[in-house]
Amino acid sequence: MESAKQMKLYDRVERVHNELRALGIADDAPLDVAQLTPFDQYHYHGTAAVDEAIAALDIDASSRVLDVGAGIGGPARYLAATAGCHVTALELQPDLDATGADLTRRCGLQGRVEHVRGDILDGAPAAGTYDAVISYLTILHIPDRARLFAAIHRALRPGGGLYIEDFTLLREADEAERETLRVKVQCPYVPSPATYVVHLVGAGFRNVALEDVTASWTSFIAERLAAFRADRPRLDAIHGTDLADGLEDFYATMASLYGAGVLGGARITARR
Ligand SMILES: C[S@@+](CC[C@H](N)C(=O)[O-])C[C@H]1O[C@@H](n2cnc3c(N)ncnc32)[C@H](O)[C@@H]1O
Repeated sequence: MESAKQMKLYDRVERVHNELRALGIADDAPLDVAQLTPFDQYHYHGTAAVDEAIAALDIDASSRVLDVGAGIGGPARYLAATAGCHVTALELQPDLDATGADLTRRCGLQGRVEHVRGDILDGAPAAGTYDAVISYLTILHIPDRARLFAAIHRALRPGGGLYIEDFTLLREADEAERETLRVKVQCPYVPSPATYVVHLVGAGFRNVALEDVTASWTSFIAERLAAFRADRPRLDAIHGTDLADGLEDFYATMASLYGAGVLGGARITARR
């Protein structure tokens, strides 16, 4: 990503701490995963989307999972706490990675969730060993799909499963939409659903299945914006107007891209 902080979702990672403080939770107090899940899932439909991956890939306590683009570790912690598996949470941005590691320690999950700062394009931390790779709303930031999917393929053990939630392109974007995607969403490339599948098959994946989830994402994104706007007085008070303005603009941008029918959502599964 060129300049990740142009994307307001990633600016000011302290947002999660503001929310916890507002609940009366001190900065170093122990935490439960359930206290964090309203704030640490940087994708759509929160932990329900992680339950989908657990079911689709049969993740259980014996599984070793790689989460590509782990954010502040929300999906990784929920997965480890729910399925009992071991998760390697790989994250590019140092501040998100450090915040994720701190929250994991406060949840007492450091034995099951390992935070690694790194770029998936440089390869997975322990290639060839993972039973499952999951990735939520991260692939959209990485235009070099050949190198990316080769790295993910190599990460998995033979027979291992892949679960992705990501953007697809439903119609040609106009110039303004392309610019918005590139700058505000840090998304320089989005393929059609059919092209997405071709890329995965080309990287050697089998049993590639793509489910279109555009309708449910479009509703989620519209409702997220409405809820954020309704909650502005509280959000301004705990985060400051500047941070809240930036996030509202990002949520409105996503609502307009989905509302205009240019972006779609996909849930993709495949096997090595
Ligand atoms: C929308 S966030 C989603 C975070 C997390 N998957 C979740 O759902 O909560 C996408 C994340 O991918 C990370 N990312 C982008 N490119 C990456 C790369 N090449 N390697 C590792 N992480 C990357 C970003 O820094 C960001 O934290």
